[in-house]
Amino acid sequence: MNIANKSVLITGANRGIGRALLNEALRRGAKKVYAGTRSALQHPDKRVTPLTLDVTSTSQIRQAADEIKTLDVLINNAGIAIYDDLSNLEVIEQHLAVNLLGLLKVTRAFLPVLKHSKGAIINNLSLAGLAPLPVIPSYSLSKAAALNLTQSLRALLAGQGVTVHAVVLGPLDTDMNRGFNIPKVSPESAARNIFDGLEKGEEDIFPDPTSLSIAEGWRAGVSKALERQFAVFAPQAAANAG
Ligand SMILES: NC(=O)c1ccc[n+]([C@@H]2O[C@H](COP(=O)([O-])OP(=O)(O)OC[C@H]3O[C@@H](n4cnc5c(N)ncnc54)[C@H](OP(=O)(O)O)[C@@H]3O)[C@@H](O)[C@H]2O)c1
Repeated sequence: MNIANKSVLITGANRGIGRALLNEALRRGAKKVYAGTRSALQHPDKRVTPLTLDVTSTSQIRQAADEIKTLDVLINNAGIAIYDDLSNLEVIEQHLAVNLLGLLKVTRAFLPVLKHSKGAIINNLSLAGLAPLPVIPSYSLSKAAALNLTQSLRALLAGQGVTVHAVVLGPLDTDMNRGFNIPKVSPESAARNIFDGLEKGEEDIFPDPTSLSIAEGWRAGVSKALERQFAVFAPQAAANAG
């Protein structure tokens, strides 16, 4: 999958890694970039179409899906991270609403056009989804669930020509982890590596030095082996559900 001349939708495109992905998609010659945001966005490049899209809003998702007739790449980037200690159920629910169910609802809405284009879905996940970061356990469990969802979607859509990519992000210099004092890399460098990974056909993309340090272990690990082993059952899913 090459971004040049493609149409791309990015959720949470107004700041952070979403904004960097928007600019990188334009730099790589995307034909159209739909910028999903909760607040109004203006962009000087005519290829950018702003789209009001809160990923927790069923009506906004439906409206966006009605507007977009063709799409090659969906980037599920919108996310929240709140410091917690699992003592407040509402905080857990908030994370699941955006980081898991928002991702799933947006994906479902755009599946028809993605199947038509034989497109790609990119889900921005986190190292904290592979092992919980104890300062953000609710966030971590939502990203673990989103990784599991990504693996299911990958298996279920493989026969329909849609590829599903997990982006395992390490610490980036964005608003999200402003208060967390650890080495971070720029969202621009991660955005470049995400599209490079897509173009190389990597199903799991490790776009920064921290995540890259575990890439080999992940790809050779037991979890990946089981994912492949279990994927053979995907063709039975529709029959069983029906
Ligand atoms: N930064 C990191 O170190 C890091 C590490 C691992 C994974 N990630 C993942 O990368 C993604 C982007 O993170 P970031 O670092 O760029 O964070 P960020 O700077 O905090 O930006 C988050 C983006 O998500 C949007 N958003 C939040 N809730 C939304 C909703 N309900 N509907 C639509 N958009 C919503 C925000 O929009 P508003 O401006 O309207 O709030 C904003 O555009 C997230 O999925 C995050 O989990 C980041």
